[in-house]
Amino acid sequence: MYNVRKVTDDLYWVGANDHRLSLFENIHPLYHGVSYNSYLLLDEKTVLFDTADWAVGRQFIENVKAVLDSRPLDYLVINHVEPDHASSLEEILLRWPQVKIITTPKAVILLRQFGFPLEADQVEEVREGDTRCFGKHTIAFAMAPMVHWPEAMVSFDTTNGVLFSADAFGSFRALDGKLFADEFDFDREWLNDARRYYTNIVGKYGPQVQSLLKKASKLDIQYICPLHGPVWRKDLDYIIDKYVHWSTYEPEEKGVMIVYASMYGNTEQTAEILTSKLADRGVTNTRLYDVSSTHVSYLISDLFKYSHLVLASVTYNLGIFPPMHNFLADMKALNLQKRTCVLVENGSWAPRSGGLMRECLEGMKNMTILDEGLTLSSSLHSQNHSDLDAMADAIAASVNT
Ligand code: FEO
Repeated sequence: MYNVRKVTDDLYWVGANDHRLSLFENIHPLYHGVSYNSYLLLDEKTVLFDTADWAVGRQFIENVKAVLDSRPLDYLVINHVEPDHASSLEEILLRWPQVKIITTPKAVILLRQFGFPLEADQVEEVREGDTRCFGKHTIAFAMAPMVHWPEAMVSFDTTNGVLFSADAFGSFRALDGKLFADEFDFDREWLNDARRYYTNIVGKYGPQVQSLLKKASKLDIQYICPLHGPVWRKDLDYIIDKYVHWSTYEPEEKGVMIVYASMYGNTEQTAEILTSKLADRGVTNTRLYDVSSTHVSYLISDLFKYSHLVLASVTYNLGIFPPMHNFLADMKALNLQKRTCVLVENGSWAPRSGGLMRECLEGMKNMTILDEGLTLSSSLHSQNHSDLDAMADAIAASVNT
């Protein structure tokens, strides 16, 4: 049975939710599912914007058929070829073999790589600024390379201001009947998932996202229709402001994230005592994480939010504790920058993690490392308290500037 929502008078959401997928891209945990959004425009011609993941293919096809109501499918616009959006292409071609695909030249190459043997006469390639008129609606195409793959583009309906934004403005989490961001308490229910989606999926490509935001700023956008998560029709500035922060790597909030790697609880205890000392100094916007039990996608997400970072790690095989090393590698891979950091190292006979973490941070852009670090010999001793006080003082002073 079909399950669709109306976006505008003649535009329908025909996507589907997936509650069974446990790891998005086989890496990022999903606890509340994910939606694959596809949109169908009923103009003089019928136009489908992207398909959906094969996992929800049956629901998706039922939705398309129901909205078409026996009309033919004339066009399929492919904004993004990643298989979570394009893998139902073959099913579309089987059912509507006359459909004309509109996409970028790079997308055609990638679609063929993924095993869709498209013939030249099945495809209309579009480039920056090209337009197509489907009756009442004229769609303009803008390239969005690396948001999130190189072939990506966005489509803008110049008639009513609908932006089909591909992965931009997307989010983890299933829609579950609702569709518009204003149908949720987005800040409470969705923002963390939206941030974790952006930072881990697109976070590396801040400059490319800024280029897209620059193009978008020249458009009269009334709706944002992403490929995952809710559609925006109100308070567009709210989500655009988040994207400005995330894509420029500017923290959303002054606050301190304390991430520790502890084998027997001594580094953990030190991190907890530091958090108490920060609270004593009025710094309560803090988050304390065990790197071993927190999926790195959550650490990355919060790090895009907060201004300050404390890393406390034991030394392991004369190196950084592996989960902490993985976190640092992900920070570097995702281009994280502009944070103020403090380091705590622990080692029972050869503490080395502090110097090695410093090297990692110095390999990132615009990171400030405060001098007030700390070396522990197995555990926190009474003589370390003055150093920990000095560290808390320095962090509090930095946060309050
Ligand atoms: Fe949701 Fe880059 O695909």
